[in-house]
Amino acid sequence: MLVLAAYVLSKGDSYSLYSAAADGLRRIHETLGALVFIVVVLRLLWRLIDSAPAKQPMSRWMATAAKFVQFALYALLIAIPATAVFGTWLEGIPVTLLGFDIALQIAQAPGLGQLIMEIHITLGNAILWVAGVHTAATVFHHFYLRDEVFRSMAPGGRRKS
Ligand code: HEM
Repeated sequence: MLVLAAYVLSKGDSYSLYSAAADGLRRIHETLGALVFIVVVLRLLWRLIDSAPAKQPMSRWMATAAKFVQFALYALLIAIPATAVFGTWLEGIPVTLLGFDIALQIAQAPGLGQLIMEIHITLGNAILWVAGVHTAATVFHHFYLRDEVFRSMAPGGRRKS
C-alpha cells in the first residue's frame, strides 16, 4: 500500500515533483518511500527469526520464477528508496524523510545525481509491473491450479517446521 501510494503521488499530468507547486506532494512521496525502506528492513529482520512458508509442490520452472520474482521485489524495495536518496543528495537537494529536511554534505555531482534519479524513476515504474505479475501468479495458483500457494503466503498458512 505504501509503494502504491508513493507511486500514485509521483504521477501528476501537469507537475514535476521538483516544482514549487508540488512541494507538499514531494514531501509526502519521499516520506512514504522512506517508510517503505524502514518496513522492508524490519521485514527482512523478521524473516531471520520467523519460519518461512512451507514449500509447495510445483514444477521446477514455477519454483525458479517464484524465487526470481521474490528476489526482484526485495531488491526493488531497497533500490528504489536508496537511488532516490543518493540521487537527490548528489543533486545537492535535501531529502524530506518523515517530515524533516535532511541534507548530506557529500560532494555534489548533479549529472550523476540526475542519472541516478532516472534509474529511480525506471525502477519505481518497474516495481508496479513485477508486483502485478506476482499478484496475477497468485490468482492463477488459487483459482486455476487450485493449489495451496496462496494459502501458504497468507497469515496462518502452513510454515516450515
Ligand atoms: C518505493 C517507494 C517509491 C516509489 C514506488 C517511487 C516512484 C517514483 C516514480 C514512479 C517517479 C517518477 C514520476 C514521474 O513519472 O515523473 C518518482 C520520482 C521521484 N521520486 Fe520516488 N519513489 C519512491 C520513493 C522515493 C523516495 C524515498 C524518495 C526520496 C528521496 C523519492 C524521491 C523522488 C523524487 C525527488 C522524484 C522526482 C524525480 C525527477 O522528477 O527527476 N522517491 N518516484
